This record gives sequence, C-alpha cells and structure tokens, in this order.
Amino acid sequence: MDDRKFSVLIAGGGSTYTPGIVLTLLDHLDKFPLRALKFYDIDGDRQQKVADACEILVKERAPEVEFVSTTDPETAFTDVDFVMAQIRVGKYAMRSVDEKIPLRHGVVGQETTGPGGIAYGLRSIPGVIGLVDYMEKYSPNAWMLNYSNPAAIVAEATRRLRPNSKIINICDMPIGIMDRMAAIVGLKDRNDLVFRYYGLNHFGWWTDVRDKTGKDLMPQLKEYVAQHGYWLGDADKGTEASWVSTFKKAADVYALDPSTLPNTYLKYYLYPQYVVEHADPNYTRTDEVEAYREKNVFTECARIKTAGTAKDTNFKSDDHATYIVDLCTAIAYDTKQRMLAIIPNEGAIANIDPEAMVEVPCLFGANGPERLAMGNAATFQKGLITEQNCVEKLVVDAYEQQSYTKLWEAMSLCKIVPDAKVAKDILDEMIPANQEYWPELH
Ligand code: NAD
Ligand code: LMR
Repeated sequence: MDDRKFSVLIAGGGSTYTPGIVLTLLDHLDKFPLRALKFYDIDGDRQQKVADACEILVKERAPEVEFVSTTDPETAFTDVDFVMAQIRVGKYAMRSVDEKIPLRHGVVGQETTGPGGIAYGLRSIPGVIGLVDYMEKYSPNAWMLNYSNPAAIVAEATRRLRPNSKIINICDMPIGIMDRMAAIVGLKDRNDLVFRYYGLNHFGWWTDVRDKTGKDLMPQLKEYVAQHGYWLGDADKGTEASWVSTFKKAADVYALDPSTLPNTYLKYYLYPQYVVEHADPNYTRTDEVEAYREKNVFTECARIKTAGTAKDTNFKSDDHATYIVDLCTAIAYDTKQRMLAIIPNEGAIANIDPEAMVEVPCLFGANGPERLAMGNAATFQKGLITEQNCVEKLVVDAYEQQSYTKLWEAMSLCKIVPDAKVAKDILDEMIPANQEYWPELH
C-alpha cells in the first residue's frame, strides 16, 4: 500500500495566490496527501498576514498537517518534496515601474512582455536561482514547480545556469483559456479536452482541440472566438475590466491565423498600438491588482485572523492552483497525465532551435516531463517564435555577461519596441530604477 504523505513548501508565501493554493491543496488531500505545508518569503511581515489566516484554515480542515511559516531558508527547505515557487522580486512597487516607464515612451508596459518583462526577468533570475540552490542544498530529491514570472526568461536562465536541477516551469494562462474553451463547448473543465499546443510562454497557439471521444471541437471554438474572443458574456460579470478587454481582443488575434487558436498575450505583440492607446500611464495593471486582488486577499486574511475561524471564508481555489496540484500528483504517482510545461525544445517543434525553451504538452510522471512532438511551426509562428526567443536569450546573455549592449539588443529586437533609440531611452530609465536588483551593466 502506498501511504506516502508529502511535504510542500510555498516559496513566496506572502503572494496573493497563496490562500487559493492552500485551499486547493486542502480540497485534494484524498489524491495528494500532505504531512507538512510550509511558507517561505523574504518579507516576513507580508507573509505573516497570509500565514495567520492559512494556519487557521489548515487547523480547521486538516489538523494532522504540520504548518510552518518562516523566513529562514534552512527551516523552509529542509525535508520538502515539492517547492511551489511564486516570487515577485521587487514586489508590486517594481511591477508598477515596469509598466509605467515603457508607457511614457509610447510602448506597451506589461509585466511579462516587452521592456517591462525584460526588466522583471533580470530581477527574477537571481531570485529563482537562489530558491533552486536552497532546494538542492536542503532537499536534493525535491521537485520545484516554478511559476514566478516572467516564466520564459526564468526558464531560459534555469536551463543555462542550473541545467540539472529538478525545476519545472509552468504557466496558468493556457490553463485558464482551456477552462474557457470547455465552457464555450459545454464541457465541465479543461480535463475534458485533449489538445495540441506549441509556442513560447505567453506566446503560443492551439492547433487541435478535441473532446475525449475524439470529436474535433476546433470548428465550434473558432466560430465563437471569431466573434467574442475568449470572453464568456454573463459568466464574466465579476472579471476585472482589463481581463475582459484581453479576452475580447483574442478575436482580433485569432483573425490573423484562423487555422489555430491563440494565447491571449499575443495581443501585446500583434496589436501594441491598440494596447498603448487604451492604456492609462497613471493607472496600470499594478494599480488594478492593488485595488482588487491584493486588497481582497489581505482584507480576508485579516478578517479570518480576527474571527479566529475560516469556516465562512470567501477564498476559493483557482485554475492555476488545481493545475499545480495535478502536476504534483502526476509526478508523485507517475500518472503520465498530459499537461503543458516550458521545457527545452529538443525537437518538439521540429523547425525551431532545439535549445529554445518552448511551451508544449508533456506526459508527466516520476521522471518529470516527456515532451510530445508538435511538428513544424507554420511560417508566421516560426518567425514570431524565433524573434521572441532570441529576445529572451539576449536577456539571459545580458545577465550572465553583465552586458549593457546585450540588454539594449534585447529591447531593440523586441517586436513591440519601435526602434533602438526608444529602446535605449527606456533602458536608461530602467537601469537606475532597478539598481537594487539588476547586476551592474558595463
Ligand atoms: P506578490 O507580490 O503578491 O507575492 C510575491 C511574494 O514573493 C511577496 O510576498 C514577496 O515578498 C516574495 N518574494 C520576493 N522575492 C523573493 C525571494 N527572493 N524569495 C522569497 N520570496 C520572495 O505577487 P503575486 O501577484 O502573488 O505573484 C507571485 C508570482 O507568481 C509572480 O511572479 C507572478 O507573476 C506569478 N504568477 C504566475 C502565474 C503563472 O502561472 N505563471 C500566474 C499568476 C502569477
Ligand atoms: C498577475 O500578477 O496576476 C499576472 O500574472 C496576471 C495578471 O493578473 O495581470
């Protein structure tokens, strides 16, 4: 009989996503049993607010699970089986800078795409590498599921700097879209879909979507997406304004290649002028998150602490969290479940650089991911992927070589920056703003 129970560490315990993940873990103890749940963060005060509420949740729903919240790496990383990494290096204060500097130059300001993502990438690399090193020192058999953004750049950095580490880079965006696809065709959730998908993180396309009987769902999905994008109408009543606009805009992204279905984030690359025209440089996504998600999470944590109970909490498990639990379960029990991950290409997309970190379906088991072959990228996709992948590689070159020129090249090559002068102006403002986090560039 398999009576294993797992010890899970959430790195970035103070994250707004933590309560949702804890709730999902507690809801799935039958398939993924826990013996310990730990939080680690470098901001002890922020983490404490989330931990106070989560400790009550755990005590009420699974008192047998040991709960630990700490800022000490040794305490955190010792005796763990899985690390879920969700750090935001520089926190929301720096996300705001990532978004607002480019916008002042008429360029998309977004946390994972364009100059904002490049800036965030340079901050995230040492943060995530630090977590990998702690894991390897204190729990060398553990697996890390990393979803700290910008996942594409972080994945390229871990491929190069820690090639043998047990880190799997993942993203919730395709997962969220597949839940929407299921809703569009009247199925329960994404696990009812069988799909083919290829690209880079936040930069990919579905080429095939079927139900479990093999029925092709692409015609029905395409008809819907051509009109509404991934917007679900009434079911999207509570969705934040910027996301409603992103889901709707997928209709225009789809129009460019009606043979596939796109990831929403491609709107930043294909319609950057539209995005800038509809942005307010004084109120970006950071301000929206602070006013909505962050406020709700911390208000609810404080309420639970004061009440001393979480029995009536409005915290809900989310798409993102169920995906993480599914992935841990697949690795722990060798289920060979088919799931997306960001991994070295090695032929999965036949006409793309074998070294590129691509996002493709994999079968997950005890040895980690086994990639599935997706064939050739079409010419349009090949061009976009190749350019964007070179941007991501140049950012990691800049980090490794402390090179101003490589970073300037990365920003100039990026499709959403109009020319090298604009790239330089943005870069020269970003350097002092990131002084505390970036390597010194020469
Ligand atoms: P947040 O600011 O609420 O939380 C991040 C936490 O990380 C903070 O408490 C911060 O103190 C901590 N932190 C920063 N640097 C650290 C370090 N070096 N070591 C340990 N902790 C550190 O941010 P959030 O909005 O909840 O997002 C967390 C991360 O998850 C971000 O990177 C975000 O982009 C990412 N995210 C990824 C996905 C995905 O599927 N890829 C989805 C959503 C969010
Ligand atoms: C986040 O920080 O939440 C992002 O990953 C996605 C968003 O909400 O902008």
